[in-house]
Amino acid sequence: MPGNYQLSADTLVEEVGIAKDLGVTSFMLFGIPATKDATGSSAINDEGIVQLAIKALREAYHHDVLLMTDECFCEYTDHGHCGILHDVHGTMDVDNDATLPNLVAQCVSHAKAGADIVAPSGMLDGMIDAIRHGLDEAGFSNVPIMSYAAKYASGFYGPFRDAAESPPQFGDRNSYQMDPANGDEAMREVALDIQEGADIVMVKPALSYLDIIHRTKQTFGLPVAAYNVSGEYAMVKAAARNGWIDERRVTMEILTSIKRAGADMILTYHAKDAARWLRG
Ligand code: PBG
Ligand code: ZN
Repeated sequence: MPGNYQLSADTLVEEVGIAKDLGVTSFMLFGIPATKDATGSSAINDEGIVQLAIKALREAYHHDVLLMTDECFCEYTDHGHCGILHDVHGTMDVDNDATLPNLVAQCVSHAKAGADIVAPSGMLDGMIDAIRHGLDEAGFSNVPIMSYAAKYASGFYGPFRDAAESPPQFGDRNSYQMDPANGDEAMREVALDIQEGADIVMVKPALSYLDIIHRTKQTFGLPVAAYNVSGEYAMVKAAARNGWIDERRVTMEILTSIKRAGADMILTYHAKDAARWLRG
């Protein structure tokens, strides 16, 4: 993924410092553990890579940075799926209910480390309800949940999966991510997550789903986040590198369109570039 690297805790502190000086103060952390196993157990370790990263960033920048954590298991499991697997009539599939307690434990561990917002990305049924109760019981009733509520099974995740070493080793994510042809399902998924207590709802990817962003904002009025994903970013970078498009103009046009569609916040790999351009 052009311009994006796996970072250690030290280099992360440097990188966040650079972004912060440009005016980018909110960050989503993804962890890539040293060892992977069938359940993704290193995700739940209080000394895990994300937990250590949060503590290092907090120590360096205190509350001048907002730290969000991606809550999922695909980077931590050796099979690359978003949770524990079980056999369903001869095919291995994510065991939704068996994964939920682990997801809650991951969120609580990140909150304990100092995460400001937890962002579960695995599209498990009942995840928001389970996480809300788990956080409240652990004393983190003030930690908001940003749900990856409308997450499509998308080809645009390719560069991320390479960078994060998280492609599924077999099969796909179609049993838990949504069909790109279906817009109404997104509204049902978002409604459920809001009922369960989501504070911010996310639509992902952003650019091919501007209608979903718009419908979500219009229908629910809650803070809507849009995730301008790796493939969307990589296409712009590749075309710009070939001299086929004006990178600055196209990037700002894309980000503006996501905002215009109704996004209150945008997660984007263009953040540092955009911050530089916005400063002039
Ligand atoms: C996994 C996850 C994905 C991304 C972030 N977390 C997608 C996936 O592999 O299904 C993709 C982000 C991107 O492409 O920028 N829970
Ligand atoms: Zn996942």
